[in-house]
Amino acid sequence: MSDQLLSGKRVLLGVTGGIAAYKAADLCSKLAQAGAQVDVIMTEAATRFVGPLTFSALSGRPARVDMWTAPGGDPIPHVHMAAAADLAIVAPLSANTLAKLALGLADNLLTATLLATEAPLVLAPAMESHMWSNPVTQAHAKTLRKRGAVQVGPGVGRLASSALGAGRMAEPVEILAAARGVLARSGPLAGRRVVVTAGGTQEPLDPVRYITNASSGKMGVALAEAARDLGAEVTLVHAPLAVPGPYGVERVSVRTAIEMRDAVLALAPATDILIGAAAVADFRPADPAAQKIKKTPGQAALTIELVRNPDILAEVAALRAEIGRPAVVVGFAAETQDLLANATAKLAAKRLDMIVANDVTDPGSGFGSDTNQITLLYADGRVEALPLASKGEVAERVLDAAVASMGDGGLAPG
Ligand code: PMT
Repeated sequence: MSDQLLSGKRVLLGVTGGIAAYKAADLCSKLAQAGAQVDVIMTEAATRFVGPLTFSALSGRPARVDMWTAPGGDPIPHVHMAAAADLAIVAPLSANTLAKLALGLADNLLTATLLATEAPLVLAPAMESHMWSNPVTQAHAKTLRKRGAVQVGPGVGRLASSALGAGRMAEPVEILAAARGVLARSGPLAGRRVVVTAGGTQEPLDPVRYITNASSGKMGVALAEAARDLGAEVTLVHAPLAVPGPYGVERVSVRTAIEMRDAVLALAPATDILIGAAAVADFRPADPAAQKIKKTPGQAALTIELVRNPDILAEVAALRAEIGRPAVVVGFAAETQDLLANATAKLAAKRLDMIVANDVTDPGSGFGSDTNQITLLYADGRVEALPLASKGEVAERVLDAAVASMGDGGLAPG
């Protein structure tokens, strides 16, 4: 899949000495697969853990170590690489290189290049926990954050010393998400707030049973990631997810339709774009049992009374009529018959700007699948059918359409 954000970008990947250098190889591979042109610079210490050849093979470009050799005849590679970079990442970042960056030292190719670049900086520190907690290291890290560097991790986990503690390098997917967040700063949704709902709500019958549906949350997570990659501040309001949540996105975890309604209405006044991808239960048990429901001998059936749940998007529409926010509201329609007629009716009833019609009987489309086939229906009557695509690609198309609908109507970035 083409990656709008990373494709064609020049990324400088600095690798310093630490056992987590092997994870940087994965990060390098992920960046290259996303279409970035990755220039790897290793410190001498990093080469004790992983060879430059590994990074050269993964990036398709020569990984560099030495300041004093001039591959390709370039006598000042640090100046040229620094100027060309759209983004610089250092992963893993050792305590030693962290200190050098804070102090502006430039005694090897990596530190010289980083001192010379104006590219935004993403740092993934990794070191033994006492080195990380040392006040000197903390002060240096603070200095770099104050200067605008984005720090990812370190996390708590098993370290090279086999002790458990803070100092473990963030996972490559997390570093990648931070890199994407930095590149998205100039995206069309920079400074805008997007709320996405995801997952299938759970409506309790008793303490251990509930009514739910087959939503995995994949579509909602993909939408949240797509909005983040356009520069938005994103909140994902989600029922239990069957997939990992997105990085770089605020998460509000809920269970029932009522909890989801409360969370969405609380966020709505500060929201530019709301996208309702959650499969919300229309009904809930009227009177959930306080204790586990028991069967009795000879009992052949059990009747459970259900009552209507609030319609979240209809309540958002009522609020929007009063306060004018959210600027754009997008719903989904999961249908098993009369797709366009039913979706059109929901578009009108919920007073939406756009509805994403989803024929959930199609193989590879709808609940649980990695792909989706949708038709966009707009309030002004436009209809746009899209081909079957990954949920990530579908999410990008939905966000592009939402951005176009927003025009100048969003909240002032602030
Ligand atoms: O999560 P996945 O496994 O990736 O699957 C994705 C999906 C199939 C769940 C998703 O693509 C989708 O179609 N979501 C909407 C599912 C749904 O319940 O549609 P609906 O036609 O019942 O609801 C219409 C719209 O009103 C939806 O935006 C829904 O979030 C919203 N709604 C529904 C009921 C309710 N009480 N309040 C609501 O706001």
